[in-house]
Amino acid sequence: MPRPYVLINVAATVDGKIDTRDRRGARISSEADFERVDRLRASVDGIVVGGRTLHQEDPRLTVRSETLCAERVARGQPAQPARIAVASHLTLPPDARFLNGPAARVIVFVPRSRGNTTLETVEVYECGADRVDLAQALAHLSNLGMRRVMVEGGGTLNFELLRLGLVDEVQMYLAPLVFGGASAPTLADGEGLGREAAIRLSAPEVQTLPDGGLVLRYMVNQS
Ligand SMILES: NC(=O)c1ccc[n+]([C@@H]2O[C@H](COP(=O)([O-])OP(=O)(O)OC[C@H]3O[C@@H](n4cnc5c(N)ncnc54)[C@H](OP(=O)(O)O)[C@@H]3O)[C@@H](O)[C@H]2O)c1
Repeated sequence: MPRPYVLINVAATVDGKIDTRDRRGARISSEADFERVDRLRASVDGIVVGGRTLHQEDPRLTVRSETLCAERVARGQPAQPARIAVASHLTLPPDARFLNGPAARVIVFVPRSRGNTTLETVEVYECGADRVDLAQALAHLSNLGMRRVMVEGGGTLNFELLRLGLVDEVQMYLAPLVFGGASAPTLADGEGLGREAAIRLSAPEVQTLPDGGLVLRYMVNQS
């Protein structure tokens, strides 16, 4: 099934947490990392998040830099990448940032069991029975002309995409922080895999940021 190039980007602490146990979207990225993420966002056709991240945090998912937006337009792309969610339901307040940010395509994939989900200004696509069929959703994005998408978590969505072999690249900002907490989310949550089924990554490209954080860039070995 055709699909766009898929890269996962997360900000994590040294102990591998992508949020604290409170799950309220604790800040992990430094200013330098926000600039890196802005460049990454400007390089993709769409930005995808999972249902819990969408409803708990109402993320912006926008390119902040006007220069980067102007460069997108000069390349013939919309100023902003599409904002995309994979959710089992859609109960966002009308003033949600996901719905009301700078002009962009807003797309939500829901399972058929949650059919008849409609929202003005949002393209809602049903795919999969009780959970969104991620391969089908990506194929749909490909049919919409998207060649490169970025996934910004959370851990459950990341794990499902990795488990299904639908990810090409993983980028991680490793902040010099420790959150701890057995229930704090990580890059890949969900059911997990046994050792023999572990997902293999390439040797990383490593960049040290002025704030002491590391940026690690891995390619996923598609076995
Ligand atoms: N530091 C970072 O870079 C970063 C980035 C993003 C998020 N986060 C953190 O991650 C946490 C949220 O992550 P999360 O794991 O709880 O949730 P999530 O991955 O954001 O969303 C998962 C939810 O998406 C829905 N879904 C529907 N079909 C699915 C499918 N095929 N596969 C996977 N999910 C599907 C399900 O919703 P239902 O449960 O309704 O069925 C599922 O529970 C928050 O604490 C947030 O702050 C951190």
